[in-house]
Amino acid sequence: MCGIIGYTGSREALPVLIAGLEALEYRGYDSAGLSLGGQLVKKVGKVAVLKAATAELTDTTATTGLAHTRWATHGEPTEANAHPHTDATGHIHLVHNGIIENWRELRAGLEAQGIAFYSATDTEVLAKLIGHHYTGDLLAAVRTALALVRGAYGIVVWSNDAPDTLVVARLGSPIVLGITDDGRYVASDPTALLPYTKRLVFLADGEVATLTPTHHQVVSVQGDIYSGKEEEVSFDIEVAKKEGYAHFMEKEIFEAPSVLENAIRGRILPDHSGVKLGGLEAVAGEVATLSQLTIVACGSASFAGQLGRLMLEEYVGLPTTVEIGSEYRYRRTLAPSGAGVLAVTQSGETADTLASIKLAKDNGLLTLGIVNVVGSSIARETAAGVYNHAGPEVAVASTKAFLSQLTVLSLLTLFIGQIKDTLKPEDRATILRDLARLPDLAKTVLESASHIKAIAEKYKAMENCMYIGRKWHAPLAYEGALKLKETTYIHAEGYPAGELKHGSIALLGPDFPVIALAPLDEVYEKTMSNVEEVKARRSPVILITTDDNHGASEITPDVIEVPKVHPMLQPILTTIPLQLLAYYIGVARGLNVDQPRNLAKSVTVE
Ligand code: F6R
Repeated sequence: MCGIIGYTGSREALPVLIAGLEALEYRGYDSAGLSLGGQLVKKVGKVAVLKAATAELTDTTATTGLAHTRWATHGEPTEANAHPHTDATGHIHLVHNGIIENWRELRAGLEAQGIAFYSATDTEVLAKLIGHHYTGDLLAAVRTALALVRGAYGIVVWSNDAPDTLVVARLGSPIVLGITDDGRYVASDPTALLPYTKRLVFLADGEVATLTPTHHQVVSVQGDIYSGKEEEVSFDIEVAKKEGYAHFMEKEIFEAPSVLENAIRGRILPDHSGVKLGGLEAVAGEVATLSQLTIVACGSASFAGQLGRLMLEEYVGLPTTVEIGSEYRYRRTLAPSGAGVLAVTQSGETADTLASIKLAKDNGLLTLGIVNVVGSSIARETAAGVYNHAGPEVAVASTKAFLSQLTVLSLLTLFIGQIKDTLKPEDRATILRDLARLPDLAKTVLESASHIKAIAEKYKAMENCMYIGRKWHAPLAYEGALKLKETTYIHAEGYPAGELKHGSIALLGPDFPVIALAPLDEVYEKTMSNVEEVKARRSPVILITTDDNHGASEITPDVIEVPKVHPMLQPILTTIPLQLLAYYIGVARGLNVDQPRNLAKSVTVE
C-alpha cells in the first residue's frame, strides 16, 4: 500500500525513480509523484501519467530523488494530496507510507502557529512538522518530529540544503536500503531494488538512516548508532513480464502447475513416507507439543487459513482457530499454554497480520509463517516458517499465492501429523500420493479454460451472484465471491450451503445466479438438496464438481468438472475454475483485472 523509491548516487536519478515506481505500482495506483533536484511533479492516475509528465522537466540530470505511488488513505486521489509533500518553505520534500494517527492534533497545533496546509493528508502534517523543527540538520529535525507522531510510517525525506542526502525512517511500514558502488537506494519493497543490488539493509522499527552517495548510517529515533547490518539476499527477482498473456492475472492462474510443483519440491520424502519442511526444523520440538494453533491472516489468505483449520482438525486433531488480523490484534485472546500462532500471507507485509504476530510474540507464543515474499517483515518477525516459492504475484487479486497457501497448509498438516504421530503413515502416504499428482491435474483443469470462458460470457451481465459450498468448499465459496467482487465489481456473497435458508435465500431469483461448489464427496447430497432449493427459486446454477459426477449435467447445463483427489486436497483443484471465472467475467466486462479500483496489492496500513 503505497510504493516508495529513493536514490542518491552518481547516476541520474529519474530513470531509477520511474523504474522503481513501475515495479511498485501494484502497491497503489491512484496517483504518483516525484521530487528531483528540487523539482516536484505530481499526477493523478497511474505511473505512466507521471512518466509522461516528466518530459516537461527542465533539468533531469539530478542524481538524487524520491518518488511515491499512492493508495489514498487520507484525502481523495488529487494532485494536492499526492506525494511528495513539502514543509512550509517548500524546501523539504517527503514521501510516506503508513498513517499518522495523531495528525489532527498535530495539524491544529501547527495551524495555530500560522502554518498553512494545502492538502487533506496526514503526510503533509509530518512534512510540516519536520520543517517546523528544522534548523539546518535534517536528521535531527526528522528525529524530533518522529518522536511526536503516533502511527505507522516508512518515509524518505530530502532537503535542498543537502541535495545529495536522504533521511529515511521506519515504524511499522517496511523500508529497505540497497547498497551499490554507484550509490544508495531506498524502497518500500526489495522488489524495486533487486535489479540494482542484492546487498540490502532492512531497517527495523524505530530506526532512522542517513544516505549519501557513498555512505549510509543507521541510528535509532533516540539517536543510538546501529550497525545497519547488510545482508546479501539470495533470491532472484524474475522481471515480471506477461509472457504473451493478456494480463498478469491470467498468467498467474496459468502458472498453477509450476506453483504447485514449487510448493512441494523437495518437501515430500521418498516413498511418500512423510514431509520435510526445512524452515520448521529448528522449532520441531515446540511444534510437536503444540496444544492449539491460531491462524492469523486477512482476505484471501484468511480463507486459505480456514481450509488449513479444517485440515489440521480433521486429520491431525490439533485444535485450530482462524482470526482476521485486524480483529485479533485488538482482542483479548485466550491461548492455552503451548499454543502457537501461524501467519498466512503472500506479501509478508500486511499490517494487521504483522501486528498480530508481534502481539503473539509479546505474549510468549510460538510464531510461525507461511509467506511468499522472501525477506518480508512477517518472514523476518516469525520464529520459523515455510516459504511458498510461488514467485512474484503482480496482479492485485491473489490467485497463485492462494493456491500455494492451500498446498503449503496441506504440507504443514502432514508435517504436524507426522511429528505429533497423530496421522498414520498409510494415511500420510495416501494424501502425499495425490499431492504429488496435483501439478499434472492442475494442467487438466486449465485445459477446460475455453469452456469456463464460454460460461463467463453467458453470465457476464449478472449484477448479483451467490457462491455456496459445504465443509471443504465453504471457505472456497467465500474466496470465489471475493475474487468475483474484486475483478468484476459484481455483488457476490459466499455462504455455507446449509446456511442459505436462514435468510439469504430471500435474495434469490432468476437474476441472481448461484455457483455451487460440490465435488462428489461426503457432503455432496446435502449440498445438492440446497441446490434444489436454489433451483426452486429459479436461480440459474453453475455447478463446479468432480469428473466422477456423471449425473451433473442433469442438474444444470453449466457444469465445470475438475479431477477427483483426496478430499483434503480437492479445494486446490476446485479453486482454479473459480479464478478463471472471475478473470474471464472481468475481462468480458472490459475491466482492468490486474489493478481493480480502490485496491492495492500489499495492505500496509490498518
Ligand atoms: C484478495 C487479496 C487480498 C489478500 C489480503 C492479504 O485477492 O489479494 O484479500 O489476500 O490482502 O494479503 P497478504 O496475503 O499479502 O497478507
